[in-house]
Amino acid sequence: MNMLSNSNAERDARSIVHPYSNLSLDSRERLLTIVKGDGCYVEDDQGNRYLEGMAGLWCTSLGFSEERLAEVASTQLRTLPYYHLFNHRSTEPSINLAEKLLEIAPEGLSKVLFANSGSEANDQAVKLVWYYNNQKGRPEKKKILSRWRGYHGVTVAAGSLTGLPANHADFDLPIKNILHADCPSHYHHANPGETEEDFAARLAESLEAQILAEGPETVAALIAEPVSGSGGVIVPPKGYYERVQEILKKYDILLVADEVICGFGRTGKMFGCETFGLKPDIMTVAKALSSSYLPISATLVSDEIYDAMVDESRKQGVFAHGVTYAGHPVCAAVALETLKIYEERDILGHVAEVSPHFLERLHRLGAHPHVSHTRGVGLIGAIELVVDKESRRPFPPEQGVGARIQLHLQRNGVIVRALRDAVAFCPPLIISKAEIDVLFDAMENALKYLEQELAPRLSPSE
Ligand SMILES: Cc1ncc(COP(=O)(O)O)c(C=O)c1O
Repeated sequence: MNMLSNSNAERDARSIVHPYSNLSLDSRERLLTIVKGDGCYVEDDQGNRYLEGMAGLWCTSLGFSEERLAEVASTQLRTLPYYHLFNHRSTEPSINLAEKLLEIAPEGLSKVLFANSGSEANDQAVKLVWYYNNQKGRPEKKKILSRWRGYHGVTVAAGSLTGLPANHADFDLPIKNILHADCPSHYHHANPGETEEDFAARLAESLEAQILAEGPETVAALIAEPVSGSGGVIVPPKGYYERVQEILKKYDILLVADEVICGFGRTGKMFGCETFGLKPDIMTVAKALSSSYLPISATLVSDEIYDAMVDESRKQGVFAHGVTYAGHPVCAAVALETLKIYEERDILGHVAEVSPHFLERLHRLGAHPHVSHTRGVGLIGAIELVVDKESRRPFPPEQGVGARIQLHLQRNGVIVRALRDAVAFCPPLIISKAEIDVLFDAMENALKYLEQELAPRLSPSE
């Protein structure tokens, strides 16, 4: 366990609210203060190095020491450190970035509205869906469907879209007009013996029934991550998006693709939409857009949505939406350089080369008696930890087995993320095969620890 210096621990205890931490616990014992990074590794204030198996928060696609991004940021800071896009103003980095984004985006997306975070990009998407339907003269068509276990952020609208109970409880969310549809996890929700295709068909029927019960004239859009990340790395069952999109089309419901995690190569193609055949009307991106070196996000829209924005703008006299740092020139310059690096270094080619090894090592974990399921695509994956593989009986939540395994790995120099008792892997896209071995060798050791030391102490005998 890393020992913290008192001064650091005390400073923390007094000053910071750490998101997604249990604030009732003494954070001094748990605090990990990261001070630097290089390649796929980060280092803490005690000199311990960690392979970052989560790229931070599904973020640093290019690792932690990309000189070109530092250079571009510093040049841009010296040239134009800030300007905005309000009021018919613009900046070169934001224009160039928008053009580049549209060049690589899925067909049909033709305009870019910048923001700072994934939550904001999704909030914008909600507002644009509402704006669009008002312009089209159907003010009742406002409900937005999301899915249980989907994660779309934490601001008031995005937090409502998120389909995880902890993000709603006592925050008075979800707000009106946000509904949740079935979670597409075959592992968690399929009936015994149900194939992926049958499960996908059942979910599609259930979605249609939900739309009909609400009244199709009131349902405006469905938002989906191609692969849900924070909800447990849910890879959709075969045929799911095909069927879902047929239903959306039938009832004139827009599709919003949340590519905040999947975007820019994570699933093997530039966007998760390509991997899974989604044709979105709106797409949101963040994280790997700038390799997360600086905060920037975007909401991409189709001509049809944009035309409605223009018409509303004519009616209102202004498009009255935008945030101070949208398209910030330093963030935009770094994002543009990130996209150039993806191309020049053929990051998609690299993912294609190393992901079979990543997936082979991931699925090999499925042989372990405490692993009931493995799932993944490209360079994202997860395993499910259970008491017993046959019955899939989960560990009691109060035992915090996922968190203990995460800590065990951390003590052994590898960072992963426990999502309940699923363990997620989402390394920088530049990871090598040798580093993939470091990641999964550590996970295999952690599973040995679970089997030989932890589980015998925890699971009550039957
Ligand atoms: C798919 C997805 N959408 C949206 C968000 C929210 O992004 P942010 O935390 O930048 O607001 C996240 C964050 O993890 C995410 O994974």
